Amino acid sequence: CGIVGYVGPNDTVDALLGGLRRLEYRGYDSAGIAVLDERGGLAVRKRAGKLARLIELVEASPVAAGGTGIGHTRWATHGGPTDENAHPHLGDGGKLAVIHNGIIENFAELRAEVEAGGVELISETDTEVVAALLGLEVARLGDLERAFRAVVVRLHGTFTLLALHRDAPGTVVAARHNSPLVVGLGDGENFLGSDVAAFVAHTRRAVAVDEDNIAVITPDEVRITDFSGDPVEFAEFEVAWNADAAEKGGWPSFMAKEITEQPEAIANTVRGRIVGGTADGDGAADAAGGARVEIPELTELGDDTLRNIDRIVIIACGTASYAGQIGAYAIEQWARVPVEVQLSHEFRYRDPVLDERTAVISVSQSGETMDTLMAVKYAKDRGALSVSVCNTQSATIPRESDAAVYTHAGPEVAVASTKAFTAQIAALYLIGLHLGRVRGTLSDADAAAAIRAFDALPSAMAEAVETHEQIAQLAHWMADTRSVLFLGRHVGYPAALEGALKLKEIAYIHAEGFAAGELKHGPIALIDHGQPVFVLVPSPRKAPVMHSKVVSNIQEIRARGARVIAIVEKGDTAVLPYADDVIRLPLTDALFEPLVQVVPLQWFALELSTAKGLDVDQPRNLAKSVTVE
Ligand code: G6P
Repeated sequence: CGIVGYVGPNDTVDALLGGLRRLEYRGYDSAGIAVLDERGGLAVRKRAGKLARLIELVEASPVAAGGTGIGHTRWATHGGPTDENAHPHLGDGGKLAVIHNGIIENFAELRAEVEAGGVELISETDTEVVAALLGLEVARLGDLERAFRAVVVRLHGTFTLLALHRDAPGTVVAARHNSPLVVGLGDGENFLGSDVAAFVAHTRRAVAVDEDNIAVITPDEVRITDFSGDPVEFAEFEVAWNADAAEKGGWPSFMAKEITEQPEAIANTVRGRIVGGTADGDGAADAAGGARVEIPELTELGDDTLRNIDRIVIIACGTASYAGQIGAYAIEQWARVPVEVQLSHEFRYRDPVLDERTAVISVSQSGETMDTLMAVKYAKDRGALSVSVCNTQSATIPRESDAAVYTHAGPEVAVASTKAFTAQIAALYLIGLHLGRVRGTLSDADAAAAIRAFDALPSAMAEAVETHEQIAQLAHWMADTRSVLFLGRHVGYPAALEGALKLKEIAYIHAEGFAAGELKHGPIALIDHGQPVFVLVPSPRKAPVMHSKVVSNIQEIRARGARVIAIVEKGDTAVLPYADDVIRLPLTDALFEPLVQVVPLQWFALELSTAKGLDVDQPRNLAKSVTVE
C-alpha cells in the first residue's frame, strides 16, 4: 500500500492526492484521505477502485482542508477492495483516523479487547481495530503521542501506521515495523510517505525512518523516537531525482517512457564504475593498463572479504529474479564462484546452507519487497555477506545490507519493470567484473571485451528501442492471440522467461518461456498450427555453437506449424528461411544480448496490452512494491 502524511500551511488535499498519485503503483484497489478541516472536524473521503474514483468523490464533495492530513492507496490483503475496507479507519468516536500498510497478526485478540471495551467496529479490517485501540488509549492517557506508543508496542506483524487526532491539529504520528516509512523535510511543512515519491514534488530533503521507530511531524518540527519514546538521532539525505523524472512527459504510459529511457538508465548505472582509462583499441593491453571495473561500495568491504567468498546466492522475486538468473551466468564466468538463484520466498524456508563464506546478493527495484527483505535478514543472521542491488535510495533492503550497489535507472512508475530490469543486469555484470578482478579470475581480454560491450551498450539499446513500430504492427495482427511461447538458450533463457512474464503481467495472456534445448523434452507438445513462438537467437559470430542449435530448434517447431518470430542479430540470415517475422538487433557481446533482446519483448507486451484496451501501467491484481509476505 501507499501512504502519505502532510502537515503545513498549503493545500492539504492537494498534497495528499498528489502524493497518492505518485504512490499509486503501490496499490490501486482503493484510496482514501482524512483531513482535519478548518472547523476542527475530521473529514474522511474514501472509495474502492483507483485513485481517479477518490478524486471524483473529493470533487463532488470537497473537504475544507486545515493543514493536517493522511492518505492511503491500498493493495488488498485481508478483506476485499470495498468502500468500507478502504483506509483511513476511524477511532475515538470519529475523532481520530489511522492508515496502515502491513498485517496485524494479533488482531483477533485485540478486536475482542476493544469490543469488550465497548467499541463497535464497522469493517473487517485489522486497521480499524488499531484505530479503536488508539481511541481507548487516547481516552486513558489524554495524549495522542503517548497513546500511539502504547498501541504500537502491542502490535504483532508488520506495519507502517499513520494517525492524526482532532484534538492534536498540526500533528501526524507514524510508526514503522518491517514496513517502509520516509519523512520529507519541507520549509514550514513536513511530509511522511511510504517512499520519497510521496513528497518529491515538494521537497527533496528526506529522512529514512529506522525499524521500530516513531516519527512525529508538525509544520516546524520532526522528531523521531524509539517505541519507548527515547529520542533517536537521524540523518537527512537528498533525493537524487526530481519530480519531473516521475512524470509521463507526453508519453501515453509510464511503461513506454521507461522502455525508451533504458539507454540512459544503463549509462547512469555504469557511470563512475568503469575507471582508469578507456577501453578503445585492442583488448588485453588496454584493459590491463587502462580501464577496470571498480565499485566503491564493494571495495569498502575489503578485497580479502571478496576473495573469501566461495558461493553466491542471488535472491529476488519476479522480474528481478530473471535479472538475477542472467547475472548468474556472467558472475560465474568472470569470478569463478558457483552462483545459484533462489526466489526469496522459497530461499529461507528450505533451510539453506549458508556461512560466512556465502555472499547473498539481493536484487530488488523497490528495495522494500517483504519476501526479499526477510530473506536478506535470514541470511545475515546466519553470517552471510549481504549485497543489495537496488534502484531506490535509502530503501530498507540496501540499508539492511553490508553493501548496496545502486542501479541508477531513475524512478520506475509502471508496475511492470523494464528499465530497472536491464539496469539490474548491468549492475550484476559490474559486480561480476569487480569480483573477477579482485579474485584474479578475470582475464584481461575478457575484462576489455566486457568494458567495450558496456561502452557500446547505450547506443545498442537505443537501436533496440527503435523496433517499436515493427513490434506495434506485429502486436496489432496478434491482438487475438491467446497464448505465446518464448524460447532462449543460455542468457537468452531467463530473457525468454522475462518476455513471458511481461505478457502475463500486462496483457493477461497465457505465456511461457522455455530453455530452447528443453523444448523437445516436453513443451514441444504444445506446438500446434499457428502457435506464436518468439525465439531469441544467439549471435552467429559470438556464439556459433548455440546459434546453430537454436536454428535447429526453430526448424523443429516450424515443422510442427509454429509461427516463428525470430529476434536475431543484424546480418544473421541463417534463420530467414524458417521465420515468419524477423526482428533485427544491433551486434553486441554474447553475454550482453539479453539487454537488447528484451527490449522488443517489452514493446510487444505493451502493444498487446494496448491493443486489448488494458491499463498498461496498472495491471489488475498487481502492485509494484509488495510489502507483505
Ligand atoms: C512485484 C511486482 C513485480 C516485481 C516484483 C519484485 O511482484 O509486481 O513486477 O518484479 O515485485 O519487485 P522488486 O521491487 O523487489 O524488484
